[in-house]
Amino acid sequence: MVARVRTVAFQGIEAVPVDVQVMIAPGKVGMQIVGLPDKAVAESRERVQAALHASGLSMPSKKVTVNLAPADLPKEGSHYDLPIALGLMAALGAIPGDMLAGYVVLGELSLDGTIAAVAGALPAAIGANAEGKGLICPFACGPEAAWAGKDFDILAPRSLIAIANHFRGTQVLSRPEAGIHAAARDLPDLADIKGQETAKRALEVAAAGGHNLLMVGPPGSGKSMLAQRLPSILPPLMPKELLEVSMIASVAGELGEGKLTDRRPFRAPHHSASMAAMVGGGLRARPGEVSLAHHGVLFLDEFPEFTPQTLDALRQPLETGDCMIARANHRVTYPARIQLVAAMNPCRCGMAGEPGYRCLRGERCRTDYQARISGPLLDRIDLRIEVPAVSASDLIRPDRAEKSADVALRVARARTLQRERFERLGVTSATTNAHCAPSVIEEIAMPDASGLSLLKDASEKLAFSARAYHRVLKVARTLADLDASEIVGRIHLAEAISYRMSSERVAQAA
Ligand SMILES: Nc1ncnc2c1ncn2[C@@H]1O[C@H](COP(=O)(O)OP(=O)(O)OP(=O)(O)O)[C@@H](O)[C@H]1O
Ligand SMILES: [Mg+2]
Repeated sequence: MVARVRTVAFQGIEAVPVDVQVMIAPGKVGMQIVGLPDKAVAESRERVQAALHASGLSMPSKKVTVNLAPADLPKEGSHYDLPIALGLMAALGAIPGDMLAGYVVLGELSLDGTIAAVAGALPAAIGANAEGKGLICPFACGPEAAWAGKDFDILAPRSLIAIANHFRGTQVLSRPEAGIHAAARDLPDLADIKGQETAKRALEVAAAGGHNLLMVGPPGSGKSMLAQRLPSILPPLMPKELLEVSMIASVAGELGEGKLTDRRPFRAPHHSASMAAMVGGGLRARPGEVSLAHHGVLFLDEFPEFTPQTLDALRQPLETGDCMIARANHRVTYPARIQLVAAMNPCRCGMAGEPGYRCLRGERCRTDYQARISGPLLDRIDLRIEVPAVSASDLIRPDRAEKSADVALRVARARTLQRERFERLGVTSATTNAHCAPSVIEEIAMPDASGLSLLKDASEKLAFSARAYHRVLKVARTLADLDASEIVGRIHLAEAISYRMSSERVAQAA
């Protein structure tokens, strides 16, 4: 007799159906797993046998064959333990096989028969719900899986014995509650930053339109401080975004306690990060930092210290909003719609451009350092600002600066305007100005006559690329939204162009 249990394999954040078939037949005593298992799946044999033994079931003294179908799809990870064990129990008659038919199963087994948490419970639950099936997952993953739907049938047992008792009707498992992290109020506040009004304004504009931002300045001027305060002014995730972000975190095994949060991701990888860590990949084609920052912020501190290859790998995700990882045996796409925030010193000694300071290595100090960032990557950054050293008078001034909560209100208003405008136009691919298509931005950000002549002059004098032209329009649209103005005027364009120019000014000043 063949017992069948449904489980999943993950391809990106998609859960692909996999059938676990277990057959007990006369032959050489032992258990074999076939169907392209990787090392973790092959080792599942030992865990399943030990867990069954610990649960009071002995392995049959026959030949046990486990087939993972479709046979040509590579199976990776430890979540096949539970479906294999339940299939075996069904084949042994310890649990009724027909009751298993309505469930998708995933979970890892410990040797003592308890069920350990696995990555990917949320995408598996959403996939199962779409098929009209229920889900059996580890107890720790229950709160995460419960997000898939209100009437969705979930069993989240702690051990093999608990699930067997549930099917026998002796100890019925209750449905887990959807878990959410309480909104944290401990975010660092913009009010801590003294002076730096231009930088704060740029941070607000970046937050309002989802624009990429580069801060250049001497050591200790507050660049890292500013970036760390960006989450406190960003609006919370919308329900659809929350689910997407959580699916990626789930596949990466990063959902703490199975709880979801509506806070936008803020990822700040160290500059020693490898290419695989940044864009994803490795043995299981895991999502990288750009995907974990989906719908949120990727903060790269000490920008030029990242390897040039790692930085250039960001070019494609920044343009398309997703990240494709191709491996010899499979290809995986993860969403990666990010807002890039970067901070750097103008040169190796950090002081180029500061009044009264000359680099010891002269001009090369600055050019060598800045050349580590490629032109095309820089072209994708809409707002480039200088963050000069804070003056002593600013530092000792007693009055507190504006609080994050007040700035967040303006940002939220500007974002609402954008969202409503996109809904009116029937644009579904974007919710912020930074991410809308060039054809759309030309339509919604056409400046008035004087603005247009300014834009024409600036594009000619500064030799804007086509991308730069569209990006200036996007920033101008955001500036108009912050002013609650439907018309993009000359003043908005002038400010937008100034943000693009400032890095060239740094170069000239040095
Ligand atoms: N504008 C500011 N207001 C108040 N404190 C500041 C300000 N700028 C810097 N500081 C102080 O200086 C410390 C260092 O700031 P921060 O780490 O943001 O500098 P940075 O610009 O990132 O420097 P580096 O280029 O060396 O990374 C902060 O912890 C804070 O104590
Ligand atoms: Mg810093």
